[in-house]
This record gives sequence, structure tokens and C-alpha cells, in this order.
Amino acid sequence: MADLNTLKGKYLAGIAAAADEGALEEIRLAALGKKGEISLMMRELGGMAPEARQAAGAQLNVLKDEIDAALRARKAGLADAALDARLAAEWLDVTLPARPRRVGTIHPVSQVMDEVTAIFADMGFAVAEGPQVESDFFNFDALNIAPEHPARQEHDTFFMARAEGDPRPPHVLRTHTSPVQIRAMQAQGAPIRVIAPGRVYRMDMDQTHAPMFHQVEGLAIGRDISMANLKWTLEEFCRAFFEVANVELRFRASHFPFTEPSAEVDIRCSWAGGQLKIGEGNDWLEILGSGMVHPKVLAAAGVDPAEWQGFAFGMGIDRLAMLKYGIPDLRAFFESDLRWLRHYGFAAGDVPTVHGGLSR
Ligand code: PHE
Repeated sequence: MADLNTLKGKYLAGIAAAADEGALEEIRLAALGKKGEISLMMRELGGMAPEARQAAGAQLNVLKDEIDAALRARKAGLADAALDARLAAEWLDVTLPARPRRVGTIHPVSQVMDEVTAIFADMGFAVAEGPQVESDFFNFDALNIAPEHPARQEHDTFFMARAEGDPRPPHVLRTHTSPVQIRAMQAQGAPIRVIAPGRVYRMDMDQTHAPMFHQVEGLAIGRDISMANLKWTLEEFCRAFFEVANVELRFRASHFPFTEPSAEVDIRCSWAGGQLKIGEGNDWLEILGSGMVHPKVLAAAGVDPAEWQGFAFGMGIDRLAMLKYGIPDLRAFFESDLRWLRHYGFAAGDVPTVHGGLSR
């Protein structure tokens, strides 16, 4: 029988030198495979005398186990080395900054709606909503605009189709957000403090008018809410919205059927050098309509005018966006031109807040 120590030395050296799993497998076959050197020697044991067989058998088994253990150990070592090599090769610096990839921008109208909502929320106004397809009652009647009232013509209303023979007045695309005043008061009663941003529609189209545009309505009803509260609220709003310390507002007597008294509000501004600056200069820019809610409007909404009073206002959001962000043509707002959106749009992650900044 071959010297087992020599065999052991040969195989262990081979295993230690094996460079990969393939080489290891060859060694395993040569030693322990069906026709391997050690397997064949095991088979020869059968022809031996019983005592010699016992001694040789035990020695062969020990050798077989040693080679087997060495094969496994080397195999595990090779796998670790392979993993180390891969980890080293595929090294990744996770502290590198991400590659910016903008998927879209916030439209200036959405941005301004968020800014306006943040400012009024800070003053305790909740957001109320109403439908864009509105009944004649909410859009006109309840707001003290009777069927023959000339204000109906001024609104350039879009009328919805009506089933033939239906005696009711047709629904309309709401011409302003004021119907939400009625809906909010009907739902909540008084006292109430809400704003209602949303889409409105009028048949009009030029550089400063689009058939669909956006308004935000404001409504504050309490036991002794006055024009003074209206003035303070609007001044606070303008200071926050235009992000200037000094704003000056001018209240001009006006007329709306749903407020009495009514005022249109102008803001002091300058156009020096073709650039609009809010809060300085000698020009005035109209920014909203407002007034004390008409007793008939309170009554139509189920609020007792003998007990409650308050103010309402309505402003154009698109116009606010044009003024604040220097956007010259309203029509571009609704053309979905990607270059325009990238230029005038806002980063999606920057949610405006009063404390964190509105338009940064
Ligand atoms: N609804 C009016 C408009 O669209 C604005 C307004 C709202 C005026 C509330 C007074 C009070 O022009």
C-alpha cells in the first residue's frame, strides 16, 4: 500500500495551491471520486487479511476525512476571497450627492394657491370648497343677484345644457368663488372663517383674461366683525404674500350686489424701469373686491343678520401670480408649454409656509 503520509502531503499541498473551485473539484475526483486514488485503495481492503484490513481501513478513513475537511475549508476560503474581491471592485461611495433629475415643477397658480392658503391658515381661516358646475341659486340668487340684475350680464356666464322642457334655470360654470360663501355658511353656520380657492369661468379671452381662471374667496362672520378687521386682514395678507415690510392699501368705494358697503382694494406700487415694485412709488394696482356681507346674503345662507355680520373678499389668483412673479401674459398659464413651466415653475419639495418662507 502506498505510503499514506506521502499521499496526504500530495493532496493537502494540491488543495492549498488550488486557485479556484474547478481545481478543487479535480482534486476531489482524483482522491475521493469513484475511481479516485483513495477510493480504489478502500476497495483493495477486501482482499486483505482481517487484522491488516482493520488497521489500514482506519488509517484510510482518517486520510479521507482529512482530505474532505481540507477541501471544504479551501472552498470556503476561496468563496470569501471571491466576495472580498467583488466588494473591493464594486465599491460605492454612498456619500456622493444625488444626481438631480427634475420630474416636473409646481405651476405658479398652484404655488400661489398654496402660499395664499398658508397665509390665511396662519390667521385661522379654514379651506372651503364648492362645485365648478354651480346652480343658478348659489352663483346668483343667494348672492342677491336677481334674475334681471345687470350683474348677470357682466359675468359673461357659460350656461350648461338643459333638458328640453325643464322649467328650472340652467346650471352655470361658476363665474366666481362667492357661491362657496353660501355653501360654507349653510353647512357650518356662524361664526365662520373660511377661504375658498378654486377655478372660475367667464367668456373672456385676451392678454389678461382667460375663459377659465382662479379666485380665492374669503369670508369671516362673527358678532362684531367690521371693515376695520377686513382692512387689517388684507394688509397682513399683502405684507406676507408680496414679502415686503411696507404695503399700503387704498379702499375705493365700489358696488357688488352681495356686499354693503363694498370696496375695491388697490395696492401702492411702482413701475419704474418697467419693473413692478409693491409698496413703493405712486401707482395703484387693483387687486381685489370686498365688503361687508349683505344681510340678504346671510339670510339666504340661513344665518340671522340681526345677530351676525362680517366681511368677504375675492381676488384673482392668476393675477396675484403674474404680479408677484413678473409673468407678463396670462394665456401662457394654460398652454402647458414645458419651457414656460420649467422657467416659471417651482420645485416640488418646497411647500410654502409662513414661518419657513413662501417662495424660496
Ligand atoms: N365675486 C366678486 C368677483 O368675482 C369678488 C368679491 C368677492 C367681491 C367677495 C366682494 C366680496 O368680482
